[in-house]
Amino acid sequence: MDKFIIHGGRKLKGTVEIGGSKNAALPILMATLLTDEPCIINRVPDLRDIRTTIKILQELGKKVEYDAGTLTVKAGRKLKTEVPYDLVKQMRASFWVAGPLLARFKKAVIPLPGGCAIGVRPVDIHLKGFEKMGAKVLVQNGNVILKTRKLNPAKIILSFPSVGATQNLMMCACLVKGRTVLENVAREPEVSDLIKALKSMGAEITQDAKGRIIIEGKSELGGMEHTVAADRIQTGTYIIAGAVTRGDVTVKDCIPEDNEILLDYLKEAGFDLQVGEDWIRIKPKCKKIKPVNIKTAPFPGFATDLQAPFMTLMCLCGGQSEISEDIFENRFMHAPELVRMGANITIERNTAKITGVKNFSPAVVMSSDLRGGAALVLAGLCAKGVSEVERIYHIDRGYEHFEDNLTKLGAKIKRVNPVTQ
Ligand code: UD1
Repeated sequence: MDKFIIHGGRKLKGTVEIGGSKNAALPILMATLLTDEPCIINRVPDLRDIRTTIKILQELGKKVEYDAGTLTVKAGRKLKTEVPYDLVKQMRASFWVAGPLLARFKKAVIPLPGGCAIGVRPVDIHLKGFEKMGAKVLVQNGNVILKTRKLNPAKIILSFPSVGATQNLMMCACLVKGRTVLENVAREPEVSDLIKALKSMGAEITQDAKGRIIIEGKSELGGMEHTVAADRIQTGTYIIAGAVTRGDVTVKDCIPEDNEILLDYLKEAGFDLQVGEDWIRIKPKCKKIKPVNIKTAPFPGFATDLQAPFMTLMCLCGGQSEISEDIFENRFMHAPELVRMGANITIERNTAKITGVKNFSPAVVMSSDLRGGAALVLAGLCAKGVSEVERIYHIDRGYEHFEDNLTKLGAKIKRVNPVTQ
């Protein structure tokens, strides 16, 4: 298993270019199942979750080519409606193929994604929505079986603005003739990017003043050419990397308004930020990091995916900070590892209470999820000495060219494989 060896204590300085968003690209790739026409998707990041999705599409019968960030999906053999467990277990978002398959074939068999390191993460909101559209839902031998003779348009009020459920139900409704209205939906930028892609396939989707998504279903959709939006989580992580190392980092080709609340909190913490149309620069003015309290929330609230990197920053604040995780239970697995690096954190239910320390001390730590792993790397960049971050396959799911980008910014970070080295 690969690990990172980091010689910390250097201020990061320079510019990093942001690629396409993993979380936006995944459902857009799955939306290609809604048509037999060719789909061209640009700015697709080269990440493990993307490669898993390509395998799923190929397994279902699509022809997929991936070259220099451009993915071309064409009709291959007759599409299957069943996804193998081996692929679903690698990535919870595999379940998002349910919507397109159900819409096109009135049938889908998908293994239940099951538990996951950052919480139980059920799919009940997705399933209730499919039921409302007329699907029968059965759980048998670990599989969710969805079937129906005919789907009907419906008014669906989500019990929570789940990102995945909003995307899955929206994709399904695009091929259900009539008007489907989705209420209490997620407003994350990744939902907007999927709407853009679906519209370019000919879908009719609008959002009203109340934020409801209204879909006028069609009998078929065409192909698309779409460019995936910039990754706001990678953007936020590099900005925080600049902050923790008291560096001078510019992030280019990003969408600053997708990270507005993070930028507000960084200003509150005392950082000097410059923001352009598609770039953000964090400057090293901040002498003492002021404590900031945050609560994660659906967009436009503070992104749960940036909670772990922000915790690394707050570990170095001059005072006490509280971080509440209100989206996922059990998303503090990075906290005990940060404590091993000298942080002072206590966890009470969904709140982390952090008393700032002067710096991290180097240690060998283990990542147990994607964003938590990135938080440990940031701590390693600060600690003076040599730290090791193990199990970085988690980080590879969501950070494209992570060590290369950090190296360009002046970090000393190397990937090693203890077996092959
Ligand atoms: C997506 C993102 C993930 C991000 C999350 C929240 C992708 C591939 N992943 O995940 O990086 O952290 O949004 O911004 O885009 N829930 C239920 N029942 C459901 C669905 C969700 O109870 O049917 C719960 C989940 O357990 C969780 C909360 O709702 O506690 C939010 O989940 P959701 O918004 O669905 O996240 P994902 O779409 O899985």
